[in-house]
Amino acid sequence: MKNRKRSSIIALLVILALIVSGCGSNAKQAAAPKGPIELKLGHVLNEASPFHKGAVEFAKKVEEKSKGSLKISVFPNAQLGNDRTLAEGLQFGTVDMAVVGTATVAGFVPRVQVFDMPFLFRDAEHAYKVLDGPIGDEVLKDFQAKGIVGLSFWENGFRHLTNSKKVVKNPADVKGLKIRVQEIPLHVSFWKLLGTDPTPMSWTEVYTALQQKTVDGQENPIQTIYTQKIYEVQKYISLTYHVYAPAVILISKKTYDSLPPDLQKIVVDAARETATYERNYIKDLESKALAELPKLGMQVETNPDKEAFKAAVQPVYKEYGDKLGVTNLISKIIETK
Ligand code: MLT
Repeated sequence: MKNRKRSSIIALLVILALIVSGCGSNAKQAAAPKGPIELKLGHVLNEASPFHKGAVEFAKKVEEKSKGSLKISVFPNAQLGNDRTLAEGLQFGTVDMAVVGTATVAGFVPRVQVFDMPFLFRDAEHAYKVLDGPIGDEVLKDFQAKGIVGLSFWENGFRHLTNSKKVVKNPADVKGLKIRVQEIPLHVSFWKLLGTDPTPMSWTEVYTALQQKTVDGQENPIQTIYTQKIYEVQKYISLTYHVYAPAVILISKKTYDSLPPDLQKIVVDAARETATYERNYIKDLESKALAELPKLGMQVETNPDKEAFKAAVQPVYKEYGDKLGVTNLISKIIETK
């Protein structure tokens, strides 16, 4: 009897010891440091581009703010997809993050085209006021319905026309030119109004198309013409300032929802803070690039007749204001001081 009691007590102690050591190992497992969360961010431009510099700065900020628990790797040169497939990847969650020109996501979020209306913004300050304020926030929310979170507007910049054939000063000079345009109906429409033959094409095909003279010209900001070496395949540039093109930094909603709230906040804050860095980077780069382009063989027309270009494209305001339901938004943008 005594022996049985003793063996029951021993059995009980063994069970208790097992439970305690089991708890200990669970506790150890919970406390074991998990590796950092790693996300991939893609864009279509090369390492010299402001998109890339901005993305690298963004990744640095995120890593610092999260004390290393969130790491972003940046993939340039369309390694994660071209302008169209990047946006699709974000929707399906196969791409975590991307920086894209707004025109490239117009097919997904039509209202974002409003910012690509020709001659809409008076200057960069006007654009920042609109994009960083309630109008920008309202349009960023449109991405949610497509499974994407719009974090912040960055910049591509004011676009200018280049071509391989002639000096362009007036709308009459562009008649008949075959111009590569972004794959956005609004751009096709206003280049048609100017009498050109607009050819929509993905960015990744542009250099070769210009080199092989499948198209005569293209249009992009000075920084893109410089960093992506468009001057190698185009002789003439006219500073038309015809569109202020914003860029946008996006994260797949699937990826965003998988992050804990503190890391979500870090991603949002870092994206907004980096907008200023990226825009300033462009400002500095463009003044340097403009001085360099003639040395690199380009003939720069600094003062084309912008008012004549602006007058010729006015019909798109009515057409796309109605089509996209953005007539009021356009008025609000114009009225923003
Ligand atoms: C384009 O022309 O396709 C874009 O401006 C390139 C870019 O995404 O910056």
